[in-house]
Amino acid sequence: MLVTNKEIMSVAMAKEYAVGAFNIHNLETLQAIVEATTEEKSPVIVAVTPSTIKYAGLEYLTAMIKVVAKAIPQPMSLHLDHGKDVETAEKCINAGFTSVMIDASHLSFEENIAVTKNVVDLAHPKGLSVEAELGKLAGIEESTVEEKDAVLTDPNAAKEFVERTGVDALAVAIGTSHGAYKFKKKPKLDFERLKTIRDSVDVLLVLHGASSVPSWIVEKATKYGAELSGAKGIPEEHIKKAISLGISKINIDTDLRLAFTGAVREILATSPKKYDPRKILGPAKESMKKVVKGKMRLFGSSGKAA
Ligand code: G3H
Ligand code: 13P
Ligand code: ZN
Repeated sequence: MLVTNKEIMSVAMAKEYAVGAFNIHNLETLQAIVEATTEEKSPVIVAVTPSTIKYAGLEYLTAMIKVVAKAIPQPMSLHLDHGKDVETAEKCINAGFTSVMIDASHLSFEENIAVTKNVVDLAHPKGLSVEAELGKLAGIEESTVEEKDAVLTDPNAAKEFVERTGVDALAVAIGTSHGAYKFKKKPKLDFERLKTIRDSVDVLLVLHGASSVPSWIVEKATKYGAELSGAKGIPEEHIKKAISLGISKINIDTDLRLAFTGAVREILATSPKKYDPRKILGPAKESMKKVVKGKMRLFGSSGKAA
């Protein structure tokens, strides 16, 4: 049965671990997540973005995930990631999602509040939980205090935002960013800011842009022709620290994409006679599964749905 992010995250928060929200792109990504969830006995959040809905179709996606959720005993949520407007959120609410994110972080503070509140008013009566975002995801490396204040989540604004919108979860900007190129110099996150937000705001906290861009994946993909120079992610110790400071949902997309690409490249390069898609996508699924299992162990969610 599908449950909400709020349910999954509240338990994680109380028990001081975090739950991975893994972005799916196709059947194989979902299979990798489900197999990892079963083997690790972990709760899990399946995340779907508007671009994935465009690519795969809302009906196909929801049907696949509902079949899976019925078949496994572990708590699973179906979550809209980076919902871009009220219409998209509404479609997902009606399609059977159990959680929606409305990302109006590019709008002004007041507009972000208005749009987010609109989604909360649609989602809460139907029992879904809502995530919103405040601040802009961006690397901070050598930024001055003023520069950081301009992009990262302001703790006072976060308090007001949560009180006025009634959101269940808030994505915070503390120096992470999406994709494989998160830092030009040394990885740096603003943990002080995270601590202040945690202490002053009564809401579940989410870390986006949390892929670590592991060297084993980058090296494999590069060995078989990928161009990834300068790729850099969030060190695993930073992830552990963020969890200890109150993050209870961690979003991972890039590491799955890299694992998929590395495995496909390897198979195509080393087995030129293979042309059965299942022989090409099977190893890609295994590689993504290895990533998801590793994240569940790192986040401390392994064994929590035993
Ligand atoms: O933040 C979410 C993803 O990493 C970007 O997703 O390419 O599916 O829009 P997308
Ligand atoms: P990564 O690009 O670091 O995997 O972040 C994914 C994400 O935040 C999805 O919402
Ligand atoms: Zn994100």
